[in-house]
Amino acid sequence: MSNSETVLLVGGGGREHAIARALSSDAACELYACASNRNPGIASLAAGFRTIPETAVEDVVAYATDVDADLAVIGPESALEAGVAAALDDAGIYTFGPDAEAARIETDKAFQREFMEAESIPGCPDYAVFDDTEAACEYIDAYDGDLAVKPAGLTGGKGVKVIGDQVDREGAKAYLRENDYEEVVLEERLIGEEFTVQAFVANGDVRPTPAVQDHKRAYEGDEGPNTGGMGSYSDAGPELPFMTSEDYADAVEILEAVVDALPEYKGILYGQFMLGAEGPRVVEFNARFGDPEATNTLPVLNTSFLDVLTAARDGESLPRLEFAGKATVCKYAVPEGYPTNPKSGAKITVDEESVGEALLFYASVDEREDGLYTTTSRSFAVVGVADSIADAEEQAEDALAAAGDGLRVRHDVGTADLVQRRIDHMNELRGE
Ligand code: AMP
Ligand code: GLY
Repeated sequence: MSNSETVLLVGGGGREHAIARALSSDAACELYACASNRNPGIASLAAGFRTIPETAVEDVVAYATDVDADLAVIGPESALEAGVAAALDDAGIYTFGPDAEAARIETDKAFQREFMEAESIPGCPDYAVFDDTEAACEYIDAYDGDLAVKPAGLTGGKGVKVIGDQVDREGAKAYLRENDYEEVVLEERLIGEEFTVQAFVANGDVRPTPAVQDHKRAYEGDEGPNTGGMGSYSDAGPELPFMTSEDYADAVEILEAVVDALPEYKGILYGQFMLGAEGPRVVEFNARFGDPEATNTLPVLNTSFLDVLTAARDGESLPRLEFAGKATVCKYAVPEGYPTNPKSGAKITVDEESVGEALLFYASVDEREDGLYTTTSRSFAVVGVADSIADAEEQAEDALAAAGDGLRVRHDVGTADLVQRRIDHMNELRGE
């Protein structure tokens, strides 16, 4: 086909399996992929798959050149931080993902807050940046109220400790002293309900996707340590059941303000928001799709992802996005002991036949000759797609029969009970 495009996908998680599925559903896309683990879902959709660490810039560029890629999509932040996007661009392969400097809105939390302040981006909490652990501890003692303690660098979503939630003041200071981070951000604890809005961005255009709610805590009822995300849901429209359409519009405006300040930005811009009585405030920005959030968003995107990529590359206005108008519920199966003491190298089975109507996305599993093995990260996700959150939840739950022994799931994600608690919480905050 004369107008076919060869696309290299970098990354091997559930998010990238969802990206691979979206790209390969367009007959004009010839897909290749590389990642540090051999993800069987991506490998089965791709014309070629090579095992390359996501941060090995030269090896990724060499593979892209080998397969004669026209375009590239970067999944994980580690690759963005390593500068894979600019290196591919320099090799003449248009890459949907920001260069390392623009990706600092994710990879450097101190920069993120300083950028928001300098550019008057709405929704920034009070914050202070420290490169001295004892000075940070003194600030914690003197601060009137609770703080979120955040190492400035990447921690896979697992580095933040919130005073009054996971730790007390003494615990927060002990955490800082134990780790002696080079730089930390201490910021006002935001109260409310969290949600994510992701947007496709290029050529100054911002094309937002429906809001998603992730579940970061490891155990049911939002208990336990933070994880990369145990599961997530989205509704049939743009907002979630505890949000108003104005809350969603406010979040989109914040993303637009970021792109106004970074007009060259290209890739996905992800906003994590805390919705309180006064509207959304910014927990963080990411420079890529969320994982699991991509597994909610891409299955309901009716517009071709490839068309977005080619418009971005060709300097055109991005297409208006069309969505299926369906709710989604994603549940992750993770290794025993995840995230604190994950049992890696355990052989697992996934019965693809028993997934039923739901979608299956492989994540950080490694496919070896004799089968599938866990790594230290999440193993696979099942995603229900249906008219209501309740129906999507049921589909996802039925699909979990696919999970063999040695895996753990948060069964409460997307249940009517938990969604109602979010609504009640918001009503309480709004004084209704
Ligand atoms: P992050 O790595 O910035 O996404 O933070 C991980 C999690 O920590 C977030 O999803 C929130 O649940 C929590 N968190 C981060 N910053 C704050 C804050 N300022 N106030 C309350 N919770 C926060
Ligand atoms: N689900 C949160 C993230 O991808 O950062």
